[in-house]
Amino acid sequence: VTQAELVVVANRLPVDHVTDGSGEQSWRRSPGGLVTALEPVMRRADGAWVGWPGKPGIQLDPFEFEGTHLVPVTLSAEEIELYYEGMSNDTFWPLYHDVIAEPRYRRVWWDAYVKVNRRFAEAAAEAAAPGATVWVQDYQLQLVPRMLRESRPDLIIGYFHHIPFPAYGLYSQLPWRRQVLEGLLGADVVGFQRVADAGNFARAVRRVLRYPTKASGIAVPHDHGTTRNVLAKAFPISIDASSYVELSQRPEIRARAAQIREELGNPKKILLGVDRLDYTKGIRHRLKAFGELLEDGKISVEDVTLVQVASPSRERVEAYVQLRDEIELRVGRINGDFDTMGHTAIRYLHQAYPREEMVALFLAADVMLVTALRDGMNLVAKEYVATRTDNRGVLLLSEFAGAADELSSAVRINPHDIDGMKEAIMRAIEMPPAEQGRRMRALRRKVIENDVAKWSQSFLAALETTGTANRAIR
Ligand code: G6P
Repeated sequence: VTQAELVVVANRLPVDHVTDGSGEQSWRRSPGGLVTALEPVMRRADGAWVGWPGKPGIQLDPFEFEGTHLVPVTLSAEEIELYYEGMSNDTFWPLYHDVIAEPRYRRVWWDAYVKVNRRFAEAAAEAAAPGATVWVQDYQLQLVPRMLRESRPDLIIGYFHHIPFPAYGLYSQLPWRRQVLEGLLGADVVGFQRVADAGNFARAVRRVLRYPTKASGIAVPHDHGTTRNVLAKAFPISIDASSYVELSQRPEIRARAAQIREELGNPKKILLGVDRLDYTKGIRHRLKAFGELLEDGKISVEDVTLVQVASPSRERVEAYVQLRDEIELRVGRINGDFDTMGHTAIRYLHQAYPREEMVALFLAADVMLVTALRDGMNLVAKEYVATRTDNRGVLLLSEFAGAADELSSAVRINPHDIDGMKEAIMRAIEMPPAEQGRRMRALRRKVIENDVAKWSQSFLAALETTGTANRAIR
C-alpha cells in the first residue's frame, strides 16, 4: 500500500459502482458535497481515502481514481445490518437528531460498530505515512480517532461531525455514552456544524468524563500526568458555490428550467422541496401546511404547484419504510382531494437526479422549502441560493437546520408551528421582487464567501496547529 500524508476516513468511498447497459462495470465519482470539497485537497496532497464501497461483501484491492488512492473496507451483509442500518442509522441517527424517531439500543449493534470501527482504523493506519494527517468523517466512525491514536501516536488526527450533537439530557440515553466521547477525544480537533453542537459536546464531556473544558480546548489526560488539548469547535460546512453558479448559467440548464415550468402547466408559483426521504427533514409537516392552505382556499392548484423530490434513502431501516408510507398516503390524499384534470397539487418524485436536473429545478422554483425538524447543516438551502444569480426566489428555512446560523436573510420558520409555516409560505408566494432581491443578494454573499474550500482549509489549518502543539507534549 502507498502511504499518504493525508488520509480521509469515511463510511463511504467517494465513488459509486455503476453497471452500464451492456453490463460493463465501472466507478463514478459520487455526487456528494464532501467528495467535491475534498477532491482538490486530496489531489494536492496525493491523499488516500478509506471507505466502504457501498455494497455487501465486495473484496477489493486499493486502487487509483482521479488522483486519489482509494482503500476499500469490506463489510459483510450482516455487518451492514448491524453497524450501518442498526447502530449508525437506528441508534445514533435518531438520537443525535433529537429523538424525532425513537432510537433503539442493542448490544449486538454496538459490538458490530466497535468491530467495524476497528477495521476502518486499521485500514487508515496502514494507509498513513509516518506523521501523516488523518481526517475521520461523521457519526458512523466515532471510535476511530481513539483507536488510531492508540496504534499510531505519530499521527495528527481530526474528526468532523456532519450531523447535530444533541443536548446532554438526550445524549445521556446512550448506554455507551462514555466510550463514544473517549473515542472522539482521540482526535486533536473535533469539528461540528454549529456552535451549539460544540457546546453540547463539551458539556457531555464535562458531565460524563469530568475533564475541564475551555473555549481553547478540552484537557484530555495523556501519559505521565500530562494532558493533550483537544479543540472542539464549529466549522460550518458549505458547498462548491462556483460550480453551482457555473451550472446555473449554462444555456441548456436554463432551457430545461423553462421546460420544467411548461411541463408543470405554467403555474404562477412553483414551490420546491428537495430532501433525502428522512424523518428529520420535516416533509410531513410541510405537506400538512401545504394541504391546509389548499383546504383554506388560500391557494389553488391552478396557481401553485409543490414539487417534492424525496430521494430514496436507508430503505431497509423500519423508520424509513414507515415514513415513506405516511408521506405517500398524505400526498395521495392531497392530490386526490384537490387535483383537476389539468393540474396537480403535488408532483411527488421518489427518485434521485443528477446535479444538472437539480439546478434546473432550483431555477424553476419560486419558493424553496427547507423545513427540517433537525439538520446538521442542510446543503440544499445553500445550493438553491448559489444558483439564483438572478437574485430571485425565496428561501424558507427552518431554525432547526444548521444553515440558519449563517443564512439569516432567509424567511425563517419553525416547522412545528404549522400555522406560522402557512403564513410564511403565503408571505413567500406574495413577496415583491425588490424584497426577494434584497434577501437573495445577502444570502448569496454569505454562501459565496464561505464555500467548501474555505471549510476544509480552515479545519485543516486548525488541525495542523493543534496537532503540532500536542505533538510537542509527547
Ligand atoms: C448524511 C450523513 C452522511 C451520509 C449521508 C447519506 O448527510 O451526514 O454521513 O453519508 O447522510 O446517507 P447514507 O446513509 O446513504 O450514507
